[in-house]
Amino acid sequence: MYDPKLYRETTNLFVKSHIKKIINCYSNLLNWNQNENILEIGCGEGSTTIEILVDFISKNVSNFNYLATDLLQPMINLATNDYLHDHVTFKQADILDEKLWLNYKECFTKIFSILCFMVVPNPTIWIKNIYNVLKQNGQIFLILTSTNPMMKQHISLSQQEKWSKYQKSNFFLSDYLLSDNPTSWIIQLLRNGGFKDIQQHEIVYDTNLKDFKSAYQFVKAFTSLNENIPEELKDEYLNEMCENIEKEVLNDEKYSYISYDVISAKK
Ligand SMILES: C[S@@+](CC[C@H](N)C(=O)[O-])C[C@H]1O[C@@H](n2cnc3c(N)ncnc32)[C@H](O)[C@@H]1O
Repeated sequence: MYDPKLYRETTNLFVKSHIKKIINCYSNLLNWNQNENILEIGCGEGSTTIEILVDFISKNVSNFNYLATDLLQPMINLATNDYLHDHVTFKQADILDEKLWLNYKECFTKIFSILCFMVVPNPTIWIKNIYNVLKQNGQIFLILTSTNPMMKQHISLSQQEKWSKYQKSNFFLSDYLLSDNPTSWIIQLLRNGGFKDIQQHEIVYDTNLKDFKSAYQFVKAFTSLNENIPEELKDEYLNEMCENIEKEVLNDEKYSYISYDVISAKK
């Protein structure tokens, strides 16, 4: 799905600074208590967790426990290897695993998830799981990207005859990303799942995805883009994607923009 090391390198170029700005800008959406038990879903290789989220939480809360989870063991291995922190535990876990999360019923006061839920299928299941593990009055804080140059091209190429046969059940072609209005789609599902006081903000930033070279460096980290494409065509898919990004940006400079959905809600 992802190459953990490449993901860390390439997201350091712009994604991480965007997340940091968003957290600083929307921190007022969160109410802090003296003691917090925090869950993160989709922590990846740990840099956002430690360098952004835990750094921010430490300034607001004196006593907290933080469980950072991710589906992929290689992400957790890299996080555990590189980031030791007294209050933080990294653990492999799938947010769609209904049995596992029964053990954490009403355990957490806050749930964070950064750039994860836009690719997790079966939203009714993950919404039910995060609702059940959250304490009454607990809060969720989610950041998703609704569109960016890589996703625009991935959706467009996957609909072409040449590629569509390989991309039928592609990990990065989620209902959220394919929706005409991803924001209202996800908000309605959260509302149906019982969440209240839902607040949403859309933030748009520019990226460095403007030319072939920068785009190629970025998309290489997302190994699921072409995972079902035959070996001999894999690179052709990425090349076509990055050539198209460069052409589109020449036509419209806003093509390189990335949109984030920032969502908070209460149980
Ligand atoms: C784009 S990365 C974001 C990583 C990190 N939060 C960051 O901001 O850099 C998305 C992460 O979600 C994880 N993920 C995908 N599906 C998941 C699932 N079902 N349960 C838990 N994590 C999942 C992936 O393994 C990946 O590490």
